[in-house]
Amino acid sequence: MLSAGILTVSDKGAAGERHDKSGELIRRILSNMDIHIVNYDIVPDEQGLIAEKLAKWADEDDLDLVFTTGGTGLAPRDVTPEATLSVVDRTVPGFAEAMRAESLKKTPMAMLSRAVAGTRGKCLIVNLPGSPKAVRECLEVILPVLPHAAETLSGHAGECGTAETYVLHS
Ligand code: MTE
Repeated sequence: MLSAGILTVSDKGAAGERHDKSGELIRRILSNMDIHIVNYDIVPDEQGLIAEKLAKWADEDDLDLVFTTGGTGLAPRDVTPEATLSVVDRTVPGFAEAMRAESLKKTPMAMLSRAVAGTRGKCLIVNLPGSPKAVRECLEVILPVLPHAAETLSGHAGECGTAETYVLHS
């Protein structure tokens, strides 16, 4: 079973001024895929705090997957991509390329997300935008490849395409 962490990045969420619907949605979707949610937290839009949390979850808690939500746009305090890039060893551009390409079929606003993805050790870190709608639309795109991604990262890859896959049913 894959282990995962969910990091919600939101000034208002961290201050208790906004209910974290997106974090809850990610939890619900991943739990339905039989992914074990080990860590969950809300941090404000502070690059250092985001980076610190991502590095700890990858290094000390040994998670397979970490999803962030929020802070990927153009607002002055949106720094989730910068924080992520500061801690990953390798970027995995295909995740963001695929999320944006599919999302653009639904809304031109998808252009505004600067989300990135990358690996730190055997942990895959993926940025998702902040709204529940965007979270659902983006997760739907990447879920099918997560098992094989985690398998290859851990060095236990079988044949491409033979891993169990995840599909989001609406
Ligand atoms: N992606 C999808 N699939 N669906 C959406 O509704 N909203 C966009 C974009 N990506 C959206 C989306 C909008 S309106 C913004 S501002 C950016 O994500 C950045 O969002 P964030 O700053 O909350 O991360």
